[in-house]
Amino acid sequence: MNIQNNCIVIFGASGDLTHRKLIPALYNLYKIGRLAENFSVLGVARTEMDDNAFRQKMREALIKHEKANGESLDNFCAHLYYQAVNTSDSQDYGKLVPRLDELHDKYQTCGNTLYYLSTPPSLYGVIPECLAAHGLNTEEYGWKRIIVEKPFGYDIKTAHELDVQIHRFFEEHQIYRIDHYLGKETVQNLLVLRFSNGLFEPLWNRNFIDYIEITGAESIGVEDRGGYYDGSGAMRDMFQNHLLQVLAMVAMEPPAIINANSMRDEVAKVLYCLHPLTAEDVKNNVVLGQYARGEVGDEQVKSYLEEKGVPSDSNTETYMAVRCEIDNWRWAGVPFYVRTGKRLPTRVTEVVIHFKTTPHPVFSQNAPENKLIIRVQPDEGISMRFGLKKPGAGFEAKEVSMDFRYSDLSSASSLLTAYERLLLDSMKGDATLFARTDTVHACWEFVQPILDYKANGGRVYEYEAGSWGPKEADKLIAKSGRVWRKPSGQMKKKI
Ligand SMILES: NC(=O)c1ccc[n+]([C@@H]2O[C@H](COP(=O)([O-])OP(=O)(O)OC[C@H]3O[C@@H](n4cnc5c(N)ncnc54)[C@H](OP(=O)(O)O)[C@@H]3O)[C@@H](O)[C@H]2O)c1
Repeated sequence: MNIQNNCIVIFGASGDLTHRKLIPALYNLYKIGRLAENFSVLGVARTEMDDNAFRQKMREALIKHEKANGESLDNFCAHLYYQAVNTSDSQDYGKLVPRLDELHDKYQTCGNTLYYLSTPPSLYGVIPECLAAHGLNTEEYGWKRIIVEKPFGYDIKTAHELDVQIHRFFEEHQIYRIDHYLGKETVQNLLVLRFSNGLFEPLWNRNFIDYIEITGAESIGVEDRGGYYDGSGAMRDMFQNHLLQVLAMVAMEPPAIINANSMRDEVAKVLYCLHPLTAEDVKNNVVLGQYARGEVGDEQVKSYLEEKGVPSDSNTETYMAVRCEIDNWRWAGVPFYVRTGKRLPTRVTEVVIHFKTTPHPVFSQNAPENKLIIRVQPDEGISMRFGLKKPGAGFEAKEVSMDFRYSDLSSASSLLTAYERLLLDSMKGDATLFARTDTVHACWEFVQPILDYKANGGRVYEYEAGSWGPKEADKLIAKSGRVWRKPSGQMKKKI
């Protein structure tokens, strides 16, 4: 699909996300010829800057993050513009009108505009209203789309309020709620693996699957974002959005076709089938943790409470593990164990499908369990584990693996990053990989009892940095006689 000429307006253009992710993503798309023939980028923030100063800042970022140079860098930067606006003053948005008129004219964009909200979340509801006050939301002259960064709300109530605020000025088809996990190639590959292979789909249900593990582990701490993270925690930062979206990709029914509505209908359906947690369930099925001092790799690291920007009495969770169930015909009785945490031994996001064992053990030794490991990051790939005979006398089985690594594909170097893919899709008007209002609400609805538990003094257990989380999380999975997988971050070794 060709991309129509357009203008991309980035609110929060002097911030971290813009120079680290958004501008590099646009630059890379430009370099491979995937942007519209005529496009412009208008950066907006309160900081006073002119076009040249903004170009210089972005140029430096591109050199730093993308090793950019030469003609493509010069040509790309010539498409960048900047307008200082007091983002909380509706009147001040009037400055955008002549700027946008000029850019639409110069680049023949027919008014097509993509607004990217990369500001503090408190402005996500304000900006649409201020744009509307100047008629910058109407689609009478070209399409108008709005990308909203995470977090979308702070709990179920604020997510609902934000939706109401945005919907007053933009219709649902204009709203693109970003979840950069959905932009990841391996997350999308879950759908292709499941729905284009006759091999897996017949096994993908309660009859053959014993349980499913989803892990989003990070070895880093909060870096220099302690203040931001403390208001968020693992639940809002990773679980409510990214990991529940991954769970939906694993568990959803096949859509009749892949388009924004049929895909997201299925995502919403499965998320609404998550078994709601009562206050008692939360105590039994959820473990929250916070890292203490420890050693990650060879490095001695501070505790969460010693991190810059974190109050010394914070009880924000940097780890959580949840046992979820899905109440539908496909998944009844199959537990989904989902965990995420900071300062774990390695950085890895993976899904592990644990298949049931054979009904009767023929050989004296226990055969290895059949597992399908889907590595989302890093070293993206898929590994099938099963038992084969150990050479020699007897019938001892040993675990062997059949592995596929993305890096083995000759086209792997042309994979789009998540932000590249999602920016491209939003310019095409394809919302398939963006969260729809009902899917976001379903996630908040599931998480809300855990938020309530925490708000009412729910226990947050300490764990040593560099360990796999609190021992209570081991006990959680051990209740059913299972153990968490301890993955290595490197596919080069055995994953
Ligand atoms: N950074 C990441 O890796 C990342 C990842 C995922 C999601 N996000 C989300 O993306 C959004 C932007 O993140 P960021 O890291 O770029 O934040 P940031 O570095 O703090 O930048 C915020 C931007 O908003 C502008 N801004 C406008 N009005 C503001 C106001 N009233 N108060 C404060 N700033 C205002 C700031 O510029 P002026 O001060 O010049 O106005 C700045 O350009 C956040 O909502 C965050 O949750 C960020």
